[in-house]
Amino acid sequence: MHICRSKKELEGVLASIAPDSKLGFVPTMGALHEGHLRLVKEAQQRCDAVIASIFVNPTQFGEGEDLARYPRQEEADAALLEAEDVTVLYLPDAGDIYPDGVRADVTPHAMSKVMEGVFRPQFFAGVCTVVKRLFEHVKPDMAFFGEKDFQQLWIIKQMVEEFSLPIGIVAVPTQREVSGLALSSRNQYLTDAERKTARTLYAALKNVVEVVMAEESPPDACCKLAKARLLDVGFEVVDYIEYRREDTLELLDRFQPGGRLFAAAWLGGTRLIDNLAVR
Ligand code: PAF
Repeated sequence: MHICRSKKELEGVLASIAPDSKLGFVPTMGALHEGHLRLVKEAQQRCDAVIASIFVNPTQFGEGEDLARYPRQEEADAALLEAEDVTVLYLPDAGDIYPDGVRADVTPHAMSKVMEGVFRPQFFAGVCTVVKRLFEHVKPDMAFFGEKDFQQLWIIKQMVEEFSLPIGIVAVPTQREVSGLALSSRNQYLTDAERKTARTLYAALKNVVEVVMAEESPPDACCKLAKARLLDVGFEVVDYIEYRREDTLELLDRFQPGGRLFAAAWLGGTRLIDNLAVR
C-alpha cells in the first residue's frame, strides 16, 4: 500500500497506475470500523484499484463540536486498510486541501438546510468542499459512501450532478452491531452504560417503521412517541425524528414506499444519527 502524505506524492503514485484502471475512492475521517471496511470491500469488488483517504476536515465541524477530540489512530487505520489490500492511502494535510485558507466554498443543495443542517448549519458546505477537493486530487471513477449518513450521501450525489463530475456515487448499507446499533467512529465516546442506551435508538426506529407501515397512526404522531420514548430511556436531547422521501428528502405525512425514517439524538455529550428505510 502506498502512503501519500501530500497531493504531489499522490499525483506521482496515481501516474504509476495503469491509465485504463477503474479507480474506486473511499474518503474517510479515520477511526475506521467495519462500516468503513465494508465501503472498501465494495470498492474492491467494483474497481481495479482502491484509494482511501483520511482527513479530519475542520470546515465540517461547528464551534464547540468535537474537532479537537475526534479520534485519530493513523497507524491502526493504515494497518486495517493494508489488510484490505488498498492500493493507496492518501493522508493530505490542511495545506493541500485548503491552500487558500481553511474555509468552505461550495454551496450545498437546499435540502442541506433540513435535519442535520438545522443543528449543524456548517456541516454540508464543509463536507461538499472537502469531498469536491478530494475528488479533484484523486480523480476516481467511483466513490463509496455509507447510508448511515444518508443525507450526506444524498447531498453529495446532488453536488456531483450540479458540477457534472464524472464519478459514480455508490451507496453502501449501514453496518450494525448485532444489537442494531449503527457503527460509527463516534461510538468510541460512549461509556458501557451509554452504549446500552444507544442500542435503543435502533429499536425505537424499528418500532416506528412497523407502526407507520401498518398505517395505524400518522408518521408525525409515531415520531413524537418515539422521541418521548428515547427521552424516557436516557437520551438527553432528541434533535429530530422525521419521516421523509428518500429520493427527494421531502417530509411525508403518510406511509408510502420509498420513505425513510431519520433520527439524531444526544447521549452523554455524544450525538448519534441513524436512519431506516420504510418499505
Ligand atoms: O463521512 C465522513 O467521514 C466525512 O463526512 C467525509 C465524507 C469523509 C468528509 O469529510
